[in-house]
Amino acid sequence: MPKIVFLPQQDLCPEGVVVEAKPGESILNIALRSGIKIEHACEKSCACTTCHCIVREGFDSLEESGELEDDMLDKAWGLEPESRLSCQTQVADEDLVIEIPRYTVNHAREH
Ligand code: FES
Repeated sequence: MPKIVFLPQQDLCPEGVVVEAKPGESILNIALRSGIKIEHACEKSCACTTCHCIVREGFDSLEESGELEDDMLDKAWGLEPESRLSCQTQVADEDLVIEIPRYTVNHAREH
């Protein structure tokens, strides 16, 4: 089973988390079941960008993003070439290293 590494993120997972995943599982669902409360304001329907993540390793193993996801990603805070929406991105059969950006467009974490 692929191993998913969530890099330390000050607010959501200060120590980082390493978890095993089943191919086909979304990055968001893996995070949520691991206790990492990534925002998902549109309830995983590809209509917000609050679940934005950056795939630091393993990006090429993923199925390409669709047009809708790309359109939404354009609005994400801190967009990078390896950005994805975690609710739309399913794990393939390779390990991934995931970074969760500090902020979202909601700025809900900005206190
Ligand atoms: S939860 Fe809204 S796009 Fe992923």
